[in-house]
Amino acid sequence: MPELVFFRRGEEVLRVAVERARLVLGRGEHCDVAIPDTEVSRQQVALLWDGERCRVEDLSGKGTLVAGQSVTQGELADGADLALGQWRAVFRLRAGGDGADVTTEVGHTTSVQAPDARATRWQPAQVRVKQGPNESVHRLTGDSFTAGKDAACDLVLQDRFASSRHLKVTRRDGVFHVVDLRSTNGTWLGPVRVFEAEVPLPTVLRVGETELVLEAAAPAARREVADFHGIIGSDPSVRQLAELIERVAPSSAAVTVLGESGTGKELVARAIHACSQRANRPLIPVNCAAISKELIESELFGHEKGSFTGAAGARKGAFEEADGGTLFLDEIGELPLDLQAKLLRALEGGEIKRVGASRPIQVDVRVVAATNRDLLAAAREGRFREDLYYRLCVIPLHLPPLRSRKSDLGALAEHFVRTYSPRGQAVRLTPAALERLQQHSWPGNIRELRNVVHRALLLRKGPVIDASDLSFDVEVNRETGISVPELPPGMTLEQMLEKLERQIVEAALKRCNGNRERVARELGVARSTLFKRLKDWGLTKQDEQE
Ligand SMILES: Nc1ncnc2c1ncn2[C@@H]1O[C@H](COP(=O)(O)OP(=O)(O)OP(=O)(O)O)[C@@H](O)[C@H]1O
Ligand SMILES: [Mg+2]
Repeated sequence: MPELVFFRRGEEVLRVAVERARLVLGRGEHCDVAIPDTEVSRQQVALLWDGERCRVEDLSGKGTLVAGQSVTQGELADGADLALGQWRAVFRLRAGGDGADVTTEVGHTTSVQAPDARATRWQPAQVRVKQGPNESVHRLTGDSFTAGKDAACDLVLQDRFASSRHLKVTRRDGVFHVVDLRSTNGTWLGPVRVFEAEVPLPTVLRVGETELVLEAAAPAARREVADFHGIIGSDPSVRQLAELIERVAPSSAAVTVLGESGTGKELVARAIHACSQRANRPLIPVNCAAISKELIESELFGHEKGSFTGAAGARKGAFEEADGGTLFLDEIGELPLDLQAKLLRALEGGEIKRVGASRPIQVDVRVVAATNRDLLAAAREGRFREDLYYRLCVIPLHLPPLRSRKSDLGALAEHFVRTYSPRGQAVRLTPAALERLQQHSWPGNIRELRNVVHRALLLRKGPVIDASDLSFDVEVNRETGISVPELPPGMTLEQMLEKLERQIVEAALKRCNGNRERVARELGVARSTLFKRLKDWGLTKQDEQE
């Protein structure tokens, strides 16, 4: 799987797998990677991955610097970099290039046994350190650890025969990779001195007079994080959810996933598909909010050649693409009423009709819908068909907001830190940072937590994330889409409003290159009002003041 590795001042700080068809980078909260830099647009650039090649599409309207060239669209070659504020993000077609210290220390590779990657992938592991009668156990949290006499090693060995940086162990896709860091007395696997080896669990390594036992950790304790198809959490609500998913997945009944923005609805939809017998058939996502009213019918049902202007050839719709598989209708609450009727017909009869076609086609599709709206309220107000509501909500799955399952917060935060920190770096959250996370109310739910971790990894000064490295998404009012800042202490509402007004005007002036006619038009204020304001703020030019 390809990945994007972010560097700041030559230092790797963040790693993101390119696992989705579309990955959006930008400053805004709804991006897949949140980049805290005002030079980066709210939506800066999209990476479109088709399984072979990666294209970039600038979303800022100003161009994105790719391999030093400003582009609006183009292909992203292996090793090419994107300039994003103070960061450089390098695209690697094949993930897995590890930190330089490992790859340069190549001796000869002893392949002991290739363990089944899948079997050990999520297995918790530990190292038991045995020195004579003394024994201590260290649970493996990061992707790798170093061992040696030096205090900077993750595992400090009190052994006179150990070198200061003796060895490094990396876990990659469930495989444990041991590299001897040119130690004086060697790393031993039984009678064999190893320089680099892939080892299964359990394995006993000998360093000087010390035995390092790499082994599976004790079975998950109750507090241990569960991972169900990428859904992390051990809160009772999450466990119930996992059970429910397993129960409903095998049938072909429609499921609707309900929950606030960022609670993991898409993740749940994917888990349902993955647990179903349709798992080896496609899952086709359609975002009903992102497609224009004119195009959505043809997106869903396809069209015949020449059925409307612009329909040059015939095209399959999402229903046909998903035949035998699952259709994920995201933001179902935004589907226009006339299409709701057509969707209902498709669900009831298992038949669809392409736009412009005279005959219907039979399809076998399981629909999973998602929304953060109250569909029943929408039905009462006549914006959502009640019959469709009952048809879709045969099985409703309610996802809890993060603020009501704070017991999972630490585990989720650590999961994101582990997922996004560069390989070989054991980044951790300080207790103060964890405490600060607990205090936040999480209006943006798990997506916000992911963003907070992204930003902290990008901004951190070292291997720890402290409370001061955390910055939260601004709260956005759902109805108006306006972010609401908090009133700073000691400031009155009036002072705040004036400050905001001035900021809005100044930003508009900048955007319009100082053209005040345009600013007045854009902001919908009379020119005289704008001029008066600018004068009050001392923002008029010298000659106009006289
Ligand atoms: N339980 C979880 N464990 C791990 N990651 C999660 C979990 N829930 C959500 N996420 C992650 O949080 C992010 C947002 O989740 P997702 O896109 O599924 O939210 P959503 O409910 O569809 O939000 P929206 O309504 O805004 O579309 C994703 O990166 C997802 O992988
Ligand atoms: Mg979603």
